[in-house]
Formats: sequence, C-alpha cells, structure tokens
Amino acid sequence: MKKIIIANWKMNPPSPKEAQAIFAKVKGRAARLSGVETVIAPPFVFLPILKSGGKIKLAAQDVAKDDGGPWTGEVSARMVKGLGASYAIIGHSERRELGEGDEVVREKLYQSLSRGIKSVLCVGEKEKSQEVFPHIVRDEIKKALRGIPKYFASKTIIAYEPVWAISSHSKGKADTPQNFFEMSIFIRRTVLDVWGKLAALRLPIIYGGSVNAKNARGFLEVDGGAGVLVGKASLDAREFNKILEIANTI
Ligand code: 13P
Repeated sequence: MKKIIIANWKMNPPSPKEAQAIFAKVKGRAARLSGVETVIAPPFVFLPILKSGGKIKLAAQDVAKDDGGPWTGEVSARMVKGLGASYAIIGHSERRELGEGDEVVREKLYQSLSRGIKSVLCVGEKEKSQEVFPHIVRDEIKKALRGIPKYFASKTIIAYEPVWAISSHSKGKADTPQNFFEMSIFIRRTVLDVWGKLAALRLPIIYGGSVNAKNARGFLEVDGGAGVLVGKASLDAREFNKILEIANTI
C-alpha cells in the first residue's frame, strides 16, 4: 500500500507565486516516487492555478455542508471537484475551533463523499488527558459517520490529529508513534461498530500533529498506519520532500 502524505498548507503561503513555487518543487520530487500518494491541500483560491496530475493530487481544506445556495463565503464539494481536487479535509480542528459542530462535520463529510472525493475526516482530543480522550475520538467518529452509507467507506480516510500536538498549539509537540498505534486500533474498532469488519480493516488511518522530516519515519512505520498529515513542515518544499522520500522507502 502506498503511504498517503498530505500537505495541509492552511492559510499559506501569502501569494500565488509562492504557492506555485512550493508546488513545483514537490511535484518534481513526487514524480520520481512510486510508493507515495502525494496530496497537497492549498487554500481554495490556489486550486485553479495548481495543476494536479502526474503523481500529485489536490485536496480542498474544507467543503460546504450544502451543494449550492445562499451560503456567503462557502465553497461546495462539487466546485472543488471541478477544480481538480480529488481529496478533501473534513472537520479539521481549526474549523471546529471556528464553531463547526459534529452535525456540520457529518454533513460536510456526506457532501464530499457524495461527489466521489476521498475524504479525510480529522478527529482528535484537545487536551492530553489519558482518561477521557478515547471517548472524545470515538464520539467524533460516530457522530461524523452516522447515516453515512457503508459504500462510502472505500473513500474515507481518518486522520488522528490530537489538537495539543499541532505545531501552532501553545505546547505543540508531536505525539508518539506508540500512541498513534494504540489510537489506530481504537479508531478501527470504532469504525467496525459503524461500518463492519471489512470497512474497518481497510480504512486508512493517518497521523497529524507536528510531523517533520525528523519524526515522520516513526509514524510511517507504525503497523496499520497509512500516512501522515503535515502542516507547517509542508510549506518548506525541501523538508516536505524529505518526508516523501522517507515514506517511499517504507
Ligand atoms: P502541524 O504539522 O503544523 O502541526 O499541523 C498539523 C495539522 O494541523 C495538519 O492538518
């Protein structure tokens, strides 16, 4: 199985020119790596100027919960698909922080999957508290998948991204591969309850939170781990390309 490496650029870089420059460097490297699925999630406005193709895929960082209509500022799954995005990030903690609740995340996931987009559902606890966090993650998954038909399972990816581990967080420090391993088992078990065994076994589970070229190998080598979701380090093409190289060897 190819490792899935997703660059979440968030609200960066500031200009189309810089976006094209990072993209070109990553695209060049990705073209030579056959063991990696390289995905870049730029801000919406850069989607039309970055061309997917070759070995690189485009992702939207979000999609609207509806397919069209009076929603000022929103962008639909249909629109991003039309611009070449074959992936979408859904329910990122930075969106949840802006007030996106579980029901909205569920609707967005449904919209994205309905358009045939590979959808990366982000889940993760806010605080590093061993006692409660598995329940939080289970709750997020169950609420997001409620009523989503099982045949969408093959397009669904779950990203375990503990909020406290994100680099922009005040204490931002990567989780451990061991914890990711344990969480991936827990996530699989939760998906089994909703979609059954086959879907649970096949589900790609990736890790996000302060991933860089130094620690990526640990997460990529986790048994049952399918890849990583990279924020800050993905804006540095050299650093991100190193992560791609590492993934290609695993
Ligand atoms: P960092 O890699 O900057 O911690 O961001 C993680 C993230 O939020 C990716 O979606």
